[in-house]
Amino acid sequence: MSAGLWITVEGGDGTGKTTQSRLLADWLTGQGRTVVHTREPGGTEVGRLIRDIVLHHRGDIVPRAEALLYAADRAHHVATVVRPALERGEVVLQDRYLDSSVVYQGAGRVLDAAEVRNLSLWATEGALPDVTVLLDLDEQVARERLDSADKPFDRLEAAGESFHTRVRRAYLELAAAEPDRFLVVDAAAPVAEIAEVIRTRVAERLS
Ligand code: TYD
Repeated sequence: MSAGLWITVEGGDGTGKTTQSRLLADWLTGQGRTVVHTREPGGTEVGRLIRDIVLHHRGDIVPRAEALLYAADRAHHVATVVRPALERGEVVLQDRYLDSSVVYQGAGRVLDAAEVRNLSLWATEGALPDVTVLLDLDEQVARERLDSADKPFDRLEAAGESFHTRVRRAYLELAAAEPDRFLVVDAAAPVAEIAEVIRTRVAERLS
């Protein structure tokens, strides 16, 4: 998109995105880069209100409304946080982006994946990351990790097993379709090993 570098981190729930993006942020900072570490949904003030609706609203939200809420969060986030940081030449490290919508709202629900993607591209005037790290993990392992974590499931985490199987498959299909943007990492590998693989790709893009 411009002078900086935009990295997004994707994967199903429980694949270790938080750990890996924190390690990458620390490493980038250590390299002297200014890092904007952000996330969707909820990377802005208005986004935090939207996040509260999509993740914690107790009643039903129809799929098209849900897709629009994520797209609204994304539109505001890209315009007010991501694009300005990239224009300043900074590194934007972001947990989840449009691939999450394509996978969760598209493959996971009843919506058409291409339409969901186009909605996000409209929302962001076509903004796509330079690098997308996909943490790929067997669903059973992911679920065991989540079960052992001491936190209640949010709406989507509670959505059941076959949903997560579809999510994983859909992510891998997206990665296969855009091999230059995606780096697929085996999330069952040791944490330090995964971090090293990610750093290598990012270092290539920085140089
Ligand atoms: P979050 O608490 O940020 O968890 P995680 O550590 O898994 O990222 O929850 C984000 C949830 O929102 C996650 O279950 C995926 C979902 N989501 C969508 O369904 N569509 C989207 O476009 C985004 C960004 C997230």
